Amino acid sequence: MKLIIAIDGPAAAGKSTVAKRVAKQLNITYIDTGAMYRAFTLYVINQGINPENQAESEACIPDVHIELKPTGEIFLNDQDVSNEIREPHVSSQVSYIASYKAIRLALVELQRKMAEKHSVVMDGRDIGTFVLPQANVKIYQIASVETRAVRRYEENLEKGIQTSLESVEEELRKRDYIDSHREFAPLKPAPDSVLIDTSFMKVDEVVHRILEIVEKKRIVGV
Ligand code: CDP
Repeated sequence: MKLIIAIDGPAAAGKSTVAKRVAKQLNITYIDTGAMYRAFTLYVINQGINPENQAESEACIPDVHIELKPTGEIFLNDQDVSNEIREPHVSSQVSYIASYKAIRLALVELQRKMAEKHSVVMDGRDIGTFVLPQANVKIYQIASVETRAVRRYEENLEKGIQTSLESVEEELRKRDYIDSHREFAPLKPAPDSVLIDTSFMKVDEVVHRILEIVEKKRIVGV
């Protein structure tokens, strides 16, 4: 049976860590949709275009080719940009790019194609509400903004990305605001999603909870 698991939620709520682990446990593909919006943003910045300029950003659509490798790397026009897309200059601009309908539709088309044939765990903002509303399991993963800021700050330190805790928290708040207030496919829980607040949970516990939900769904035969 084909299985589709959608994990949505605000920035740095730990979705990708959990989604990767769930995918590994179930031996299915993990798709990081945020990485696709980040790669598009990097392209726009590299062209010298201001990501706040919608018309110029959307005009890039035909020139942007994004590929997610089965091993997890992300390629932009045949270049590995897996590390660069995590840099602060991309993080601070990505929500503008993600608010443009034409860009979303182009990336959503790719995302739907990737889930057409295989079982997937896909994480993002609009997976359960818009990209794959037919998902068998929908999770809405949250954590307090303070917890999320500490997690992202520590992640950045590990990757050698220089940021302050204050600037990380400010960026998360700004991104959450833009992501949840945009007109087209905003960040919000799907009515049939299960809310998991991970503020006081370990990664293992979250993974376990999701696997339990998947198991229950399988028993009732979705
Ligand atoms: O990992 P982090 O929580 O920082 O964010 P991400 O998943 O890499 O997503 C980066 C940005 O892409 C988000 O802040 C959204 O603006 C946008 N995004 C989106 O609009 N829709 C998605 N399905 C995934 C990401």
